[in-house]
Amino acid sequence: MTSPRRQPARRRTTVLGRRAVLATVPVAVAALVGAAGPAGAGTTGAAGAGDPYFPLSGNGGYHVRHYDLTLRYQSDGRLEGTAVLTARATQPLTRFDLDLKGLTVGGVKVDRTAAGVKRSGQELVVTPRHALRAGQDFKVTVTYRGTPEPVTDPDGSADGWIPTDDGAFVANEPQGAMTWFPANAHPKDKSSYDFTITVPKGRTAVANGNLLGQRTVKGETTFRWRESRPMAAYLATATIGRFQVTQYTTRDGIRVYDAVDPREAKAATPVLKRLPSVLEWESKLFGPYPFTSAGSIVDHAKVGYALETQTRPLYDAAPDILTLVHESAHQWFGDSVSLTSWKDIWLNEGFATYAEWLYSEQHGGASAQKTFDELYARPAGNELWAYPPGDPGSGENIFGTPVYDRGAMALHELRKAVGDREFFAILRAWAAEHRDGHGTTAQFVRLAEKKSGKPLDSLFHTWLFTKGKPNKA
Ligand code: TRP
Ligand code: ZN
Repeated sequence: MTSPRRQPARRRTTVLGRRAVLATVPVAVAALVGAAGPAGAGTTGAAGAGDPYFPLSGNGGYHVRHYDLTLRYQSDGRLEGTAVLTARATQPLTRFDLDLKGLTVGGVKVDRTAAGVKRSGQELVVTPRHALRAGQDFKVTVTYRGTPEPVTDPDGSADGWIPTDDGAFVANEPQGAMTWFPANAHPKDKSSYDFTITVPKGRTAVANGNLLGQRTVKGETTFRWRESRPMAAYLATATIGRFQVTQYTTRDGIRVYDAVDPREAKAATPVLKRLPSVLEWESKLFGPYPFTSAGSIVDHAKVGYALETQTRPLYDAAPDILTLVHESAHQWFGDSVSLTSWKDIWLNEGFATYAEWLYSEQHGGASAQKTFDELYARPAGNELWAYPPGDPGSGENIFGTPVYDRGAMALHELRKAVGDREFFAILRAWAAEHRDGHGTTAQFVRLAEKKSGKPLDSLFHTWLFTKGKPNKA
């Protein structure tokens, strides 16, 4: 097996060359948020969740407990939606924002009363008729329609609702949720989801979690999906296409739903077949699989990356086995244990990449040490050392080589420092203690020190935060 390091992996974008064009956008936006943010009225929910890389992603002042999304997709690409958000105010609110970009809003209700609504860039500004008290539960209903368009990320790649020749490839990391539903779209806020998606007969709509039912009436099919575990908005999908569907239950009782574009079926089938054994193998290393459903969505689209959509990763073409291993590992690292800040992205990508190294090592391929050594041999000017993975600097860098590969190198150094037994105990404790929740880099470092009884500050400092190529210990 070849090391994945040297292949231009499909799960990553290949358009990093365009980065300079958009480099100044986040900075300009940060200034805007400062003006309208927490410094304003004490009863106004902030326009962003406070993430320096994506200042307008998410919102302040409330938590969404549940999204109930009803969507109707027509073959000309138009979408009609009704989103009912069950939320709780975390502060008194005379006004709050949702993230929504494009589309036409028909109306917004808070509980049963029509609310004031204003569009301002990607913010949908809602003024309820009656102010909300801190701790108050409320429902927001938004009706909307239009032809969704993807957003362009700071690194030049498309994200969100990406039209395909037979539907849409729906991948929201990091900011695409707002292209197809109104959301509190920052991974800090996790929620359960219901999806009711109506598509022309012959198409399939695939979302997260369990399929509750499907029914065809007058030339349209409605699919009902439910994800009951907490999920970040960027991990939600409603991918639509002409798919071959396979359903089965693994011997661990996990319900699998695979949807494959027929043009990818020949290449995808032998790889998807290995999902149960990959999940079993990962469960041995990382602890029990965090969800009750699984599967794969294999589309036929030129997107340039795959995404670890919760319970059911999404591929733009038939994946290779290491990509399947990578997206599956994210179910533990990234999906069940979520980021609180995009800056910590190595907790997702470094871990999922290290899962590939481990898979290779245990399945007749290169050892993790060999993969590490080959990477380490790269000269100081190589892109691998362009910035430290624990501090990528901006949103344009979050899916770059240092995050994936040097992030994995940091874990390999940890493994060597504490030994295999401790290392895997740390990974399992991380997944268990933060399951369905969040974790930060500082918390991971503390956990590793506590479990191993070793000071590890300098190791992590070297591998996560030092600029340039680190010297070996
Ligand atoms: N998280 C994805 C993975 O590694 C990659 C990804 C998601 C991505 N969205 C992106 C890469 C946007 C580049 C641009 O599996
Ligand atoms: Zn990844």
